[in-house]
Amino acid sequence: MIKRRQFIPLFLSGITFSLVVACNSSQPSGNNTVPSQNSNGIPIGVVLAQTSNAALLGQEQVIGAKMAEKYFNQQGGVNGTPIKLALQDGGGDEQGAINAFNTLITQEKVVGILGPSLSQQAFAADPIAERAKVPVLGPSNTAKGVPQIGDYIARVSAPVAVVAPNAVQAALKINPNLKKVAVLFAQNDAFSKSETETFQQTVKDLNLDLVTVQKFQTTDTDFQNQATATINLNPDLIIISGLAADGGNLIKQLRQLGYQGLIIGGNGLNTSNIFSVCQKECDGVIIAQAYSPEIDNPINKTFRETYLAENKKEPPQFTAQAFAGIQVFVDALKAVDQKNKISSLSLEQLREQLNQAILSGKYETVLGNISFTSEGEVVQEKFYVAQIKMDETGKNGKFTYLK
Ligand code: ALA
Repeated sequence: MIKRRQFIPLFLSGITFSLVVACNSSQPSGNNTVPSQNSNGIPIGVVLAQTSNAALLGQEQVIGAKMAEKYFNQQGGVNGTPIKLALQDGGGDEQGAINAFNTLITQEKVVGILGPSLSQQAFAADPIAERAKVPVLGPSNTAKGVPQIGDYIARVSAPVAVVAPNAVQAALKINPNLKKVAVLFAQNDAFSKSETETFQQTVKDLNLDLVTVQKFQTTDTDFQNQATATINLNPDLIIISGLAADGGNLIKQLRQLGYQGLIIGGNGLNTSNIFSVCQKECDGVIIAQAYSPEIDNPINKTFRETYLAENKKEPPQFTAQAFAGIQVFVDALKAVDQKNKISSLSLEQLREQLNQAILSGKYETVLGNISFTSEGEVVQEKFYVAQIKMDETGKNGKFTYLK
């Protein structure tokens, strides 16, 4: 079969590399003429946790980003030019994200970065992109203050302030008589500290009694002290802001020590990867959602069907947000290209114009319609709440969306 590729020279940062544009759908997978890793398309950096405990979230995000790469390239990429993800493991700490950002910005010459997984990492790594004028889209950073890190920093992940209160409202629907609320949070994590502030304010605004605030670390595995102190106060609702491994263990230990009331888990626990941690004790946990598989638009229908077929379960929030993040890059790149052919721009010009396009665009995504404030905060229409339902064995579970 004849396979043809067209090399379009790009002058980026004074360095020339070639974009290989597929002119035939059956292009070869290996080709010695490809001069660099970025030569298969427009390089978009992706920094997600593929190792460490944060990989419990990061794994779901990688799936979403890769699905998006495949899907949008099938749709013609950026006006005929494919995108190519430059994927880096950001790990679960600041240094991992910083290293990944540096590599992508200076070596991979990416046009923008989707990442990192944690707000704690974003506060450390995003300033590097800001200084280099590289647009960043946070796929899951929900702490207060992330878009305000700089002009080049935006996010598709709605902040704790608008997402978290929905879970407390849902708990009140389930138990209208609940009064006493205990709050626990990971004090070494920027997102958890931010989310607990929102939860504590919501509890006060709803005239509920905040009976205790307990602290832990995301690295903790033993929560006996905090769990015992909490249970002794006899709360009707316990709200946990932490990440998946610590949060899952805390839930398990609360139940094993006899707590029977409602539990809300925050955004860091929003993954079916906690099922293997808290097992049957995950049952009933309430978690607010920035995504619902039932969002009624064509792109979500396709996304949901594709994910269901490949994974035999409904797509989770972190996968959907990563997919939406790549879409924003693609749509914004198209907008730039329509104004000034991308191949005529320097890397600096492209990054700057891409940033402007991201902030001024409107996007129909798997999250519904989204746009951004001038500061880079996502504007999203709707949020949801789900409750975990585990089967008898405690091995399999699912998120059941509450009406
Ligand atoms: N939402 C969590 C964070 O912002 C994952 O770190």
